Amino acid sequence: MSLIGRDIVSVADLCREDIDEIMATADRMLPYARRELTTDVLRGAVLCNLFFEPSTRTRLSFGSAFNRLGGFSRDTTGMAATSLTKGESLADTARVVAGYSDVIVMRHPQAGSVQEMADAVNIPVLNAGDGPREHPSQALLDLYTICRETGSRPGGLGGLVVTFVGDMRYGRTVHSLAQVLSLEEPMEFRFIAPPQLQLPDWLHQQLVQRGHRVVLGDSIRQGARDAQVVYCTRVQQERFPEGETVQFDATAWRVDRQVVTSVCRPDVVLMHPLPRVTTDGPSELSTDLDDHPNLAIFRQADNGIPIRMALFALTLGVADQVDHYTRKACWYTPERLGTHDTAGV
Ligand code: NCD
Repeated sequence: MSLIGRDIVSVADLCREDIDEIMATADRMLPYARRELTTDVLRGAVLCNLFFEPSTRTRLSFGSAFNRLGGFSRDTTGMAATSLTKGESLADTARVVAGYSDVIVMRHPQAGSVQEMADAVNIPVLNAGDGPREHPSQALLDLYTICRETGSRPGGLGGLVVTFVGDMRYGRTVHSLAQVLSLEEPMEFRFIAPPQLQLPDWLHQQLVQRGHRVVLGDSIRQGARDAQVVYCTRVQQERFPEGETVQFDATAWRVDRQVVTSVCRPDVVLMHPLPRVTTDGPSELSTDLDDHPNLAIFRQADNGIPIRMALFALTLGVADQVDHYTRKACWYTPERLGTHDTAGV
């Protein structure tokens, strides 16, 4: 089924063919993401970016991706700056915003809220994170990153060992990425977390039913051994129910140079959806790895642009026309001139 006009609320709505189409379209967006070419295929189109939760990468990269296709983006940031705090329902907000825009991107603290928005409007709605539940565009850019970093193609990741570390319970990027990877041939999933922050049962069952090997553990040293991908996450303190505290020793789940050197494969891919926490002492993915060539986190964040361009181009039905509206980029950029060696796109 074509992606034209569809919402992207849950990765569960995407089949193998949809994912392959998104990945192939993202490849075609690379010259634009690298600023070699510009296109204005979406000239006149308007994106409303509704972010009711904090965001840096996701909001800016959705906006930039839309701009790089020639469209305009309008943002709201935070709950307090919108009429939801005056008591307006999400359904009324949805109806109004749909009158102003051609596509909506939304992030909200409540699971299911983005589906509610999608049900209320007749334009595509893309989920930028609904509470602890899902983060589909992040999962797609994570899959894209895994393929590029390991030299594999989507659909060809069977046999891979992927280790997730950190907050499996509330980490929506983990929930979405594990489901996307579950469409691959059998692989091994390892989830390394404090017991209270382990993977939800439904997801564990789903992976097993789809024929994958699933290992739950709490030792980073065992979990990271021989894994091709180590995917770290932040503990989502803000999602703990009121009054609940989780006691854990952060050092036990920290991935640092010592762990990488002593137990990881030389070609391990080190990922993190970001942000990593640096305010409470050493981060869960230590900054002592910042100059390590296997640290893919900034290439991963850069991949948000071609993936989100692909999502807009496909849902708005212009994927085949992007190249007809092309010009050479004429301004200075290190990426275009090949002098910026950290750019991953
Ligand atoms: C994540 C998110 O918001 O779920 N960040 C992101 O979008 N790249 C991860 C997090 O907040 O920990």
